[in-house]
Amino acid sequence: MAARSAWVLLMDMKRIWPSITCATPESLLSVFKNDDFNQSKKGGNVLTDELRVAPGGALRGEIDVPGDKSISHRAVMFGALAEGKTRIERFLPGQDCLSTIDCFRRLGIVIEQLSPTDVVVQGKGLRGLTEPSDILDVGNSGTTLRLMAGILAGQPFFSVLTGDSSIRRRPMGRVTAPLTAMGAVIRGRDGGRLAPIAIDGAASALKPLTYSSPVASAQVKSALLLAGLYTEGETAVREPYASRDHTERMLTAFGAKLQVAQEPEGAYCATITGFPDLRGQVITVPGDISSAAFFLVAATIVPGSAVLLRHVGMNPTRDGVIEVLQAMGAKIRSENERMEAGEPVADLYVESASLRGTVVSGGQIPRLIDEIPILAVAALFAEGRTEFRDAAELRVKETDRIATVAAELRKFGACVEEREDGMIIEGGRPLQGATVESHGDHRIAMAMAVAALQAAGETVIHGASCMDVSFPGFARYLASLRS
Ligand code: S3P
Repeated sequence: MAARSAWVLLMDMKRIWPSITCATPESLLSVFKNDDFNQSKKGGNVLTDELRVAPGGALRGEIDVPGDKSISHRAVMFGALAEGKTRIERFLPGQDCLSTIDCFRRLGIVIEQLSPTDVVVQGKGLRGLTEPSDILDVGNSGTTLRLMAGILAGQPFFSVLTGDSSIRRRPMGRVTAPLTAMGAVIRGRDGGRLAPIAIDGAASALKPLTYSSPVASAQVKSALLLAGLYTEGETAVREPYASRDHTERMLTAFGAKLQVAQEPEGAYCATITGFPDLRGQVITVPGDISSAAFFLVAATIVPGSAVLLRHVGMNPTRDGVIEVLQAMGAKIRSENERMEAGEPVADLYVESASLRGTVVSGGQIPRLIDEIPILAVAALFAEGRTEFRDAAELRVKETDRIATVAAELRKFGACVEEREDGMIIEGGRPLQGATVESHGDHRIAMAMAVAALQAAGETVIHGASCMDVSFPGFARYLASLRS
């Protein structure tokens, strides 16, 4: 009953909530289009945006999972570089992907949004982009900045990429150094390692590169493969473990010549040949498994739950979260498996279950890197200890996700030990509702909302509207399963 009244209050706030003015352009990005959050304002400035979650009954029903963020970004980018029209269905209208659309419009590409999820990109070919008259602002989106750096390195013009305060803290040397080796002239703060970065692209072509990345990062791999489009020859990127391969799959579908090889001990190499003819495509974006993960865990930990998640992308470089949850004892069944736009897709049926602790490490990490905050929540409800190792990359995500997960979960009374490359969680302790912070990190905010479902008393999540970065309407989806 308490849960229902919290949601009713939320929906009432939604009805009476006037249009708002924001304190800064950054808060405008995350707050302006939001209609789910309880906001207070004074003198025209938003002071807080918060989500209140009370524990309640079982989660039941179906969700059509919103489009995959990584695939939505790439569909816009590759559509812009292809000849002719690309139609994107089930596009994710999250703030990050809207930033990608905005940046490509500034590069002279016509992009129509027929509906929030239905997008048409009028591609102009590999040489069709034009010099932007102002900086390109990626907002909170690391994928936009790093992949665009690869594309812009190959353009015969000047451009500047920047983003919000989180983006300006994140490491960019991992792309600017190899792109400089390919012939682009890149300057930025801290010797080109921090945004804003200014790029003087190659006047004619970049130099092909063979590069071994020290980190398994799809953003690094994709940036270099995209720069490789602008070389007379082959560009090869090797990584210690295979990161998500949406770039390889989708560029091949657009007509690029690309080879991939799985190497000993989990290493992986992708090689691209420069100056292909890319042709516009129709792309149906699968549902984002990273968004589905919040409901997989929510339905698992709330007793009596049974939820069907439709249209979930099941790319084997992304499905580590299902593997780990099943190893912990979760009841997840995959149905109606099919292929769409070169990506495996399925419907997932999940029921509540008892969990036990596990170890998550090594080559599993890139396959679930974005799901560790919500897996940490699952670990709170597992019998025994769960350990995350080899996950130092978490420290350079939208926030330092080892520090933010540990700090915020402890507020519920959880026992979380921070390690340099991960964390150890002792499960099975009762949780107490708390006042927690998103730190402006969408996945932290949503993970806390799920933890709150099984904590005693109300939880208040400050800075909750950043959920819109990857999952607009998350609170409404959750409410729909509780009614
Ligand atoms: C992404 C790759 C991952 C992931 C990010 C999206 C992508 O980053 O964390 O949310 O779309 O390529 P890294 O490749 O840097 O690990």
